[in-house]
Amino acid sequence: MTQNLADASRPAAVPAARTTAATTGASRGGWWRDAVIYQVYPRSFADGNGDGMGDLPGIRSRLPYLRDLGVDAVWLSPFYASPQADAGYDVADYRAVDPMFGTLLDADGLIRDAHELGLRIIVDLVPNHSSDRHEWFRRALREGPGSPLRERYHFRPGKGENGELPPNDWESIFGGPAWTRSDNPDGTPGEWYLHLFAPEQPDFNWDSPAVADEFRSILRFWLDMGVDGFRIDVAHGLVKAPGLPDLGSHDQLKLLGNDVMPFFDQDGVHAIYRSWRKILDEYPGDRIGVAEAWTPTVQRTANYVRPDELHQAFNFQYLGTDWDAAKLREVIDLSLDSMRPVQAPTTWVLSNHDVTRHATRFANPGGLGTQIRTAGDRPLGLRRARAATLLMLALPGSAYIYQGEELGLPDVTDLPDEVRQDPSFFRQAGQDGFRDGCRVPIPWSGTEAPYGFGPVAGGPSWLPQPADWAELSVEVQAGDPTSTLELYRSALAVRREQPALGAGTEVEWLAAPEGVLMFRREAAEGSFVCTANTTGEAVRIAAPGRMLLSSTAEAAVESDGESVELPADSTAWWAV
Ligand code: GLC
Repeated sequence: MTQNLADASRPAAVPAARTTAATTGASRGGWWRDAVIYQVYPRSFADGNGDGMGDLPGIRSRLPYLRDLGVDAVWLSPFYASPQADAGYDVADYRAVDPMFGTLLDADGLIRDAHELGLRIIVDLVPNHSSDRHEWFRRALREGPGSPLRERYHFRPGKGENGELPPNDWESIFGGPAWTRSDNPDGTPGEWYLHLFAPEQPDFNWDSPAVADEFRSILRFWLDMGVDGFRIDVAHGLVKAPGLPDLGSHDQLKLLGNDVMPFFDQDGVHAIYRSWRKILDEYPGDRIGVAEAWTPTVQRTANYVRPDELHQAFNFQYLGTDWDAAKLREVIDLSLDSMRPVQAPTTWVLSNHDVTRHATRFANPGGLGTQIRTAGDRPLGLRRARAATLLMLALPGSAYIYQGEELGLPDVTDLPDEVRQDPSFFRQAGQDGFRDGCRVPIPWSGTEAPYGFGPVAGGPSWLPQPADWAELSVEVQAGDPTSTLELYRSALAVRREQPALGAGTEVEWLAAPEGVLMFRREAAEGSFVCTANTTGEAVRIAAPGRMLLSSTAEAAVESDGESVELPADSTAWWAV
């Protein structure tokens, strides 16, 4: 099942220790410390062969766009062999590219091209669970109870007289019980297996040495292919509390993120990352690991990025913060303070493939969480999203951008139920699981769907695009100084020119009116001030300096030399 690297169609072997491309970003003590990393969701970025599904050749053809945007690295969501029960986060073969996305040869070409353009490549690693079509799991089922393959997953007899009840009370993140009963080889009901996500995603048992060995080998496989790092899916989930104890609650999803659960954020995960760090460090070129770790506190997130563990962890507390100066300031301080003791950079992120896009979150009242089904006030959402992005890019550390946010894309909140594919939507009976809304293929050009996503006008796309997306296309926005695309391009260009942006671990807060954030960043070349007005009213302040960039076209036009007016919901950067 594994595509073989010795395939005759493959060109000269990738050097096992290829030195990664130099990027132009500042690189004191590690390129990742202030890198801007762009997330590509392969299904929805660019469709090279016109089948309606994005693919690696499509991504490869668009790499110059990413170079011109000014990002340092690209993180690719999974493109491995997968039945796509959870859009590729159910991996059947970790060393193969799914034919729907291309071949290993395409992956190799993509990595090479990216490096030539000065872009680094981070791939997704899914170690918490495999697909139920993974060879190990299929054999475990086929061989029945007692099979050594069952030790690589969590198989247990059921409770109750005839084993008809799940082994414990854990619930799946996608809804329903976290256990599914398997059939014995003779067709009679058999043992149960654990799946924290969909039933098609059985959890690995990380106490099994075979699992640990396999993942060390998978890491090396992709490192040898030349990748610059891994985004580690569900990094907080690998180790379960001994004995798989009951939780004793039936509202477990509400506890997530507030409590240490017997299946999440167990201290045992850290030994795994220490062993992976040793492997990453064996390779030249600063290869990195990025944890997707949903933990109860920023302090616990910091545990994943201690000096001998991973390099970065997503800052989901920041992602979940409303557009509100006081709340933002609190989470910024907390994030910086928590990372300082472990000497890791803070990361900042506003959107990804699992949450409602921030242009739509901010179009709705605060406090609604990250799965929203209402479009809200779109112009307001876009104005705040642009302001939030400039604020994020002014903070010290590394920032993540999710494909399409540079076009100001909103979530598609009115997808018909029959086109939805998020497994969670079905397990929650349509009450949750709206992640398809942020996964709609992005518009590149033209007036007719799929707007250049695929090669043929009128051709298919795996999720339908809204009729008004022609006006949001890359083609329409490129060169328009008021567009969101040009705002991102300018911001990333200024960030490269101004080392004070992104560098360091400190912000110096300046006094500002209520609802306004104002901070200074010092650098040898001069200082820099960022102002963010999170209120719905214009606010007049003393001019902080020479304006470099503003999230609104009209920002600070009202300047009389001494004072400036910050428009409602706007951020500006100032050289002082
Ligand atoms: C991560 C992924 C998400 C996926 C889940 C299960 O949270 O980001 O898309 O559904 O893991 O693999």
